[in-house]
Amino acid sequence: MPTVLVTGANRGIGREIVTQYMADGWDVIAACRDPDGAGLDCETLALDVADPDDVEAAKRTLGDRPVDLLWNNAGIYPDKGQGLDTLSYARWLEAMHVNCLAPVRLAAALSGNVAASDRRIMAFTSTMMASIGRDPSGAYAYRSSKAALNMAVTCLKHDVRPLGIACCLIHPGWVRTDMGGEAAAIDVATSVTGMKRVLDGFTMEHTGRFLSYDGSEFPW
Ligand SMILES: NC(=O)c1ccc[n+]([C@@H]2O[C@H](COP(=O)([O-])OP(=O)(O)OC[C@H]3O[C@@H](n4cnc5c(N)ncnc54)[C@H](OP(=O)(O)O)[C@@H]3O)[C@@H](O)[C@H]2O)c1
Repeated sequence: MPTVLVTGANRGIGREIVTQYMADGWDVIAACRDPDGAGLDCETLALDVADPDDVEAAKRTLGDRPVDLLWNNAGIYPDKGQGLDTLSYARWLEAMHVNCLAPVRLAAALSGNVAASDRRIMAFTSTMMASIGRDPSGAYAYRSSKAALNMAVTCLKHDVRPLGIACCLIHPGWVRTDMGGEAAAIDVATSVTGMKRVLDGFTMEHTGRFLSYDGSEFPW
């Protein structure tokens, strides 16, 4: 069976990714900061994505094991409700680390594992809030860190293409989670079912695309 490694697997969208791939019979590696407290019924990996030592340790643990789908899902939205006058620049930097630098660092560390697999997909959970084409306002830290992720993955796709790895930037929808809030439009099952469908049909022909969970394309 194929193997998926998902970050931020303990709650929200990440946890539903774990549930759905387990139901499909995949080997699931659920990466999160506190595996002991997560109550996950699958293989786990202790991983604070923003900690380079944790990323190195994860690579050592995995060795040469193939990973068909590396799903960089963990993310933070630290500036909800902040305006220009109340911005926390420290939290903005944290968002850049968690939402942009960390996924690239993990992708670089595990590129050999993904290259050794059959499917060879890297997924990066982005957001419609990163789309500059939608002429957004507010949420400086979240939007800019995810827009930076979009650019970083656009660069990364060229470096991993020779390894046969395709990169997907995916918007999960506005989803009812701790981050999305109770008023969000869809539940985690709808979001993950849609994203899985997109990734099932994702090949090198599509690499670098910025897609929604329903398969539609987003303006950059
Ligand atoms: N919900 C939405 O409407 C929505 C819309 C667009 C995009 N997204 C994106 O979808 C992804 C998942 O969001 P969600 O709604 O499921 O959010 P969530 O419920 O707040 O869950 C966030 C997950 O990320 C993990 N995480 C945060 N910082 C981490 C770190 N340094 N190391 C490891 N894990 C870390 C959290 O782990 P802890 O429990 O340890 O904090 C948690 O598992 C995020 O990238 C988010 O930006 C969500």
